[in-house]
Amino acid sequence: MSIVYLNGSYMPLEEAKISPMDRGFLFGDGIYEVIPSYDGNLVGFGPHIDRMVEGLALIGIDFDFSADQWRAVCETLAAKNEGDNLGVYLHVSRGADTKRFHAYPDNIDATVFAFVFEIPPAPVADKAKVKGYKVATTEDLRWKRCNIKSTALLGNVMHFQQGHSEGNNETILYNSDNEMTEGSACNAYIVKDGVVITPPLDHQILPGITRLMLLDILRKDGSIKVEERPVTMDEVRGADEVWLTSSSKEIAPVVEIDGRPVGQGGVGDVWVKAQTLYSAAKSNY
Ligand code: PDD
Repeated sequence: MSIVYLNGSYMPLEEAKISPMDRGFLFGDGIYEVIPSYDGNLVGFGPHIDRMVEGLALIGIDFDFSADQWRAVCETLAAKNEGDNLGVYLHVSRGADTKRFHAYPDNIDATVFAFVFEIPPAPVADKAKVKGYKVATTEDLRWKRCNIKSTALLGNVMHFQQGHSEGNNETILYNSDNEMTEGSACNAYIVKDGVVITPPLDHQILPGITRLMLLDILRKDGSIKVEERPVTMDEVRGADEVWLTSSSKEIAPVVEIDGRPVGQGGVGDVWVKAQTLYSAAKSNY
């Protein structure tokens, strides 16, 4: 049985109830996080909470919870539920109003919900064991505030579904200038001639915490060059390697794009190096 957290209490999932007037339900008016936890150890907890606090400020939700309080929720849920490899989902919506009115209401209490779900074991840097991703591509038709980790994910959901319905694991998105933005639920990278290249942070992509950690780890190590700059879809199709990152998958190598093999048709050597470095350093964040 799954134990969840709702507004200050822990309870079985079946007992967790929120108002249908909750603005998270009516408008997708909220912010969320997903933090990985392996054997009870949270990865990237500090940056995840910082991003959540920034997101809440960006949409004007006044919710005062300290990092220690968030940590207690995450650790308690990990302890109360089964499983070694967990994603901790944190969700703060603006709360329930008495009416449906677009403007932010005054004096309502935010709704705070958290639960854990199983994620795959952290990948090991082994070409023979890692899952190679197959992806579709399509124009990014989401909104212009993709830097906000909003619970309003219909655009992402529709893009993911498009790739999924054709038997793919993800969908890589591109803007009207034919530049890659990100995946529907992950950040995206290419590797060309040994250099890791990923789009810069702006309103078109989520500032992924796995991205933040990976780029920091690679720069500190120094053996693989990193560039943050626009990447055209022609570059994606001509890349030696393509990767996706997110909290639930770490660094995922893409082996097929729109039915065509990436690079030499398998998982690349730079991925092995990068995943090795990531695995060794991720517990420092
Ligand atoms: N997705 N871009 C988008 C659109 C995302 O939804 C995510 C994460 C990322 C990667 O962010 P991070 O490295 O902080 O997980 C990039 C989460 C896991 C989800 O919605 O389930």
